[in-house]
Amino acid sequence: MPSITLNDGNKIPAIGFGVFMVPGDGTAYEMVKEALRAGYRHIDTAAAYFNEEDVGKAICDSGIDRKDIFVTSKLWLQDHGYENAKKGIDRSLRKLGLDYIDLYLIHQPYGDVIETWHAMEEAKKEGKLRSIGVSNMTPKIWNQFVPQFETKPAVNQVEFNPFFQQRELRALMEKDNVRLEAWYPLGHGNKDLLTHPVFENLAQKYHKNPGQIILRFELQEGAIVLPKSTNISRIQSNLNLFDFELTAEEMQSICALDTKKGSHDPDAPGVAQALLNAFKIED
Ligand code: A2P
Repeated sequence: MPSITLNDGNKIPAIGFGVFMVPGDGTAYEMVKEALRAGYRHIDTAAAYFNEEDVGKAICDSGIDRKDIFVTSKLWLQDHGYENAKKGIDRSLRKLGLDYIDLYLIHQPYGDVIETWHAMEEAKKEGKLRSIGVSNMTPKIWNQFVPQFETKPAVNQVEFNPFFQQRELRALMEKDNVRLEAWYPLGHGNKDLLTHPVFENLAQKYHKNPGQIILRFELQEGAIVLPKSTNISRIQSNLNLFDFELTAEEMQSICALDTKKGSHDPDAPGVAQALLNAFKIED
């Protein structure tokens, strides 16, 4: 599995297995074990996915060396602020059963982002977190916070797929060599995307499925992709992206599909409160 070097020198596998909305009742445990068996070495969870314990147990039981698995988790909004963030980081470590996390993100960029980031910088210095980053930052939010950060984020994990190519954001991130991580890289199963003739034709040409063409486009654009699937053959096929390459012309034809709109607008008023209401990690 090819890896990408982040701006802090750490390496991250280019494809990760995401477990958003996978219940932590043993379901996430089984799915992560399946993904590790299929060859994934990068697992992406979050405190607000309520499955960190399952993820950690699957990693522990896999028999794979800890250093060979890249683990991402994310701090939830309820844990923002310096002291709360420190507690939140320790809680994630405890739930995962790990003594370090490869990449830890500010999941949602609202509230006291500056002091939260400060706590994450300190946890990085202490060795609890190897890399630190942010998530769901739009250009507006990026400009509000990142210039004040002492350490630049290693990544910004945002919605990204051929219908939402994040051109303005990526130009900003490029200045600090910050990598984009793609959530909803397959448009969350959007049929208009997955059955678009551009992808169906390329799938035929390269003997791949349209999902693989989409993921390959994203990798060639420099993104780290986090496709989700509950289907074992698609879990496997979503890793199988390195035996073909889209031409410059084919890349152009996909670039032309950008609608500049995603399913979630982090700049919309009331988003932080709606998220807090939707995901309560503690009473
Ligand atoms: P399934 O679980 O049946 O495989 P995203 O990663 O953007 O959230 O998209 C996830 C959705 O895309 C799921 O509905 C998943 O369905 C579907 N999916 C995953 N991999 C592929 C693929 N290679 N081709 C088509 N659909 C896919």
